[in-house]
Amino acid sequence: MRELERDFPDRPDTACPPRALKLAVVGIGRAGGAVARAAAEAGIEVTPAGRRDALEACLASEAAILSVPDDEIAVAAEAVSGAAGALRFAGHLSGAGGLELLAPLHARGTELFSLHPLQTLPDAEASLAGAWCAVTGSSRASIEFAREICERLGMRPFEVPDEARAAYHAAASIASNLMIALEESAVELLERAGVAQGREALVPLVLRSAANWADLGPGALTGPIVRGDETTVAMHRAAIATTAPELSGAYEALAERARGVARSTATPPGSIEAGQAGIDRLAASVPAPDPGRPLLVRSKAELDAALSPARAAGDSIGLVPTMGFLHEGHRSLLRAARDRSDVVVMSLFVNPAQFRPGEDLASYPRDEAGDLAAAAADGVDIVYAPRLDEVYPEGFATAVKVRGGLTDVLCGDPARRGPAHFDGVTTVVAKLLSSVRPMLAFFGQKDAQQAIVVRRMARDLDLPVEIVAMPTVREPDGLAMSSRNAYLTSDERRRAPALYAALSTARDVALTSGDLGRGLTAARRLLAEAGVQPEYLEARDAEDLSAVSELGSKPVLVALASRLGSARLIDNIVIESEVTG
Ligand code: PAJ
Repeated sequence: MRELERDFPDRPDTACPPRALKLAVVGIGRAGGAVARAAAEAGIEVTPAGRRDALEACLASEAAILSVPDDEIAVAAEAVSGAAGALRFAGHLSGAGGLELLAPLHARGTELFSLHPLQTLPDAEASLAGAWCAVTGSSRASIEFAREICERLGMRPFEVPDEARAAYHAAASIASNLMIALEESAVELLERAGVAQGREALVPLVLRSAANWADLGPGALTGPIVRGDETTVAMHRAAIATTAPELSGAYEALAERARGVARSTATPPGSIEAGQAGIDRLAASVPAPDPGRPLLVRSKAELDAALSPARAAGDSIGLVPTMGFLHEGHRSLLRAARDRSDVVVMSLFVNPAQFRPGEDLASYPRDEAGDLAAAAADGVDIVYAPRLDEVYPEGFATAVKVRGGLTDVLCGDPARRGPAHFDGVTTVVAKLLSSVRPMLAFFGQKDAQQAIVVRRMARDLDLPVEIVAMPTVREPDGLAMSSRNAYLTSDERRRAPALYAALSTARDVALTSGDLGRGLTAARRLLAEAGVQPEYLEARDAEDLSAVSELGSKPVLVALASRLGSARLIDNIVIESEVTG
């Protein structure tokens, strides 16, 4: 068994005083087959038997092992009870079942035993040698008999009182069956995370961990829990909740167990420990200079608690609202917030209120663990990732709507996403601003209309915050970064840079010709050549979004939306005209 293959130097010698023994093994399944084979090899005269010839085999033997499924043992015992006169000992191989299953034989004078190899037996060829074996008996003689059988089969007997059988068997089940379920859970999670060969990849880790545990016991526990690194645990929790929510309960339960094991192995400072666990604990005991990890909070109460020291100290708070699946565009906002604020809060909330029916709410890409890691790398202090009912509790009945021609044009045109999209944005942003109470809130120019609408809301509602718009971050080929770029097929991805190319052409042609209309025409031509159909391509005042037809004294926003397959992409460019009015 790979690295776990071990020698058992102190294994009992299989050459126990050999004595002639006639043993009937009734039921030749996996366990019965393995026992019968090992017994025959140990020089025991084995008569394997099925249901029909069971009585006959028992009549010809001095001992019998009923190796049938647990719920058939009592029936089998009844069936062979006629052989009680011949059988001195009768036993079963059940892990959880007690001796009472063999009562009909005991009633007729046969002493009872059970033996349960503490070994996984995937087939009848599986070896029992070296395994420990739980034995019970109705008398000292039957216990000694069971011990002798075990030893002759190369196993190590140990006694388990009959009343503790179920607990014993539960322990065996945790150690073997549930471990398989655990490993398969890890495989499933890995595969959902995109690692196709999850099982192969995990094998060396699992075998090494098991071997370490065999050597070090609880001291083999390594990883974030023993280090007390609950931030990483929180990241795991979040990733599991989004990737494989059915594993959340198991993860929490096992994490709690791991905390208990870690506590039980905690050693006084100065003691020397062996293995990686000791190294991990040592690392944990040295305070990291700056773990740089954000604190993850999920409720307004936790958020308040986390921010209260900063508020008391009068520190400035910077907020970056996001819907996650962070890319360099989002991260440029995080870094700007880091540069300009004492405390950086990033919100992470896929806001259902701003998705229209039929839009991609359900499939919106999510990767909370990745987002937390990016936030950590960019120096975010607090990630506020509220649950849905924290933001929209039952009875929620309020909306913040900005009008004034800002939300019913471009993306807000009723024929497109409609103003309700922006109502969803302003409502959630208003809530975030009021929960976080930042001095600065950072938005991307990529969603120029959104930044304009949010700025107007803050102004109209006298919100004490400065709305900062940061430049659009692009891929090297000009495509504006967007979480929705993940939806593009390779062909669509090849065509997507046409959006920015068209916007750049519009600006360049407009500026060189002084004619905004010509700029837009050139952009449309370029899009057509690239096979990209615009949903809209419009020039508007960059502050109030009123329609403009020519360059003037004020900046002009040229905004473009286009559907490429399942992705709806938007982009824009601002023409800062040199013409002064
Ligand atoms: P989301 O699409 O996650 O974007 C979060 C912020 O990142 C927005 O301010 C957006 O304009 C900015 N951003 C996105 N792509 C960018 C890029 N390529 N360059 C620069 N900044 C970029 O916008 C939202 O979320 C939501 O509407 C939100 C404001 C969070 C309200 O729910």
